[in-house]
Amino acid sequence: MPAAAPAIDLSARYDPRRNQKQVEFHSAPETNKLYGGALGGGKTAALVNESIQLLLDYPGNFGLLLRKTWPSFRDTTYPQLVKFLDPRLVADWTHTDKIVTLVNGSKLRYGGIGPGADDWQAFMGGEYGFIALDQAEEFSETEFKMLSTRLRLNLPGIRYRFIMTCNPDPGWLKERFIEKNLSDHRFVPALPTDNLANLPPDYIAKLKDILDENQIKALLEGDWEAVGAPDNVYAYLRVKAAMSRKAEPGLPVEIGVDVARMGDDETDIVLREGLRVSVWDQARGHDLMRTVGEIWRCVSERVVPVWGLRLPKLRIKVDADGLGAGVVDRLREQRREKEELYTQAILEKADPAAAEEAKKAGWRFRIEIVEIPGSGKPPEPLKFKNLRAEIHWSLRELLDDIALPDNRELVSQLISIKYKINSAGQYEILSKDQIKEKLGRSPDLAEAILYALVDIKPIGPVPNIRSLR
Ligand SMILES: Nc1ncnc2c1ncn2[C@@H]1O[C@H](COP(=O)(O)OP(=O)(O)O)[C@@H](O)[C@H]1O
Ligand SMILES: [Mg+2]
Repeated sequence: MPAAAPAIDLSARYDPRRNQKQVEFHSAPETNKLYGGALGGGKTAALVNESIQLLLDYPGNFGLLLRKTWPSFRDTTYPQLVKFLDPRLVADWTHTDKIVTLVNGSKLRYGGIGPGADDWQAFMGGEYGFIALDQAEEFSETEFKMLSTRLRLNLPGIRYRFIMTCNPDPGWLKERFIEKNLSDHRFVPALPTDNLANLPPDYIAKLKDILDENQIKALLEGDWEAVGAPDNVYAYLRVKAAMSRKAEPGLPVEIGVDVARMGDDETDIVLREGLRVSVWDQARGHDLMRTVGEIWRCVSERVVPVWGLRLPKLRIKVDADGLGAGVVDRLREQRREKEELYTQAILEKADPAAAEEAKKAGWRFRIEIVEIPGSGKPPEPLKFKNLRAEIHWSLRELLDDIALPDNRELVSQLISIKYKINSAGQYEILSKDQIKEKLGRSPDLAEAILYALVDIKPIGPVPNIRSLR
């Protein structure tokens, strides 16, 4: 029987309550967890301490703590292990084998995997309860996947973990943990400012002296777009900033609708009130009449009661590629009747004097139905391949002003939208089908938001875009 761990106050060495992101990392219930971002954010400390906790939580556990090479492990991860692993917990530390055994019988194997592409094979004999990779961007996705298969230690009640840290990097980690937003994966972003309580006071200033501008963006500000090819239309940090921004509701009030094209796509209805964006409805499937009903419900339950007489006009904008055309047709058939209905309802509810004045001024509730033919011709055909590319580009410019709903799925969708410059010299946005192939689902909510925000006035057969502000 392994001895029970002695009661030792571990928080004397490591206290995650001084760094909220560490708390978030430790309390995330997912199997695969990535703590990624800036230097000095407290990532290695969190990785080492979560490893220690897992060894304590499951007596008899066997964990693997690695960096890509031994010299890098020895110089960066190892000192943190020595700093945080209380000697009173250690029964045996065999430095030649690089194995620590705790008093409760749990073991930690640590070290470097080796610089070669096949060096992971040396670790395939073990069966582990958790695997922890420091600076995981140095590893390949193959190494991650192969090591994952070894999470199979037979220990009753154990929850397996694959935990990792990294600095911003354009590779597989970003795709897996941020863009794909896979189930049972959690990404926690790290900034040095999260960890000020544990850093020397001049730490950030000193690094700023050493690093160049792009390195500052990547390594100090945690900006994922500052490294590698910046092909994201929407940069991760700008999306996050838009999600924490507050904006008062204002004019114009517009509804954007992205209609599902296939059974597993989503129909999304989004409301924008000036710079404030909110999600009204997200539903799988493509029952067109239900979609139309849901749009009118948004008008009658949300727009009419909140805005009433103050609204000069409501615009409903629907993507008209594919099934959206049917929604547009039905909305147009019903438009006049609905205008009458809402006008009546608002006038009846309003203060009588205000209603009288509004009637005199000829006010009525007006609705405009706009279809957005994404694959159609853009106002600036020299610069953009199609309308969709041009309106995405205008939303990119608007991103620093708007307030978006805080939604992890939306982060993934927005940053999955990539552009390229094609051989005609035009900006081209990866099609929804291409994105769907890559991510397993299409960015429907992102596109509904795009439609809600973009200002499109049809002029003749080709729609024109006015300023977004
Ligand atoms: N919660 C904590 N309690 C005590 N020291 C901490 C804590 N978090 C981080 N540190 C210390 O802060 C410094 C920077 O943390 P580190 O984990 O090396 O950052 P990163 O790996 O993100 O670059 C290290 O000296 C580390 O030991
Ligand atoms: Mg580190």
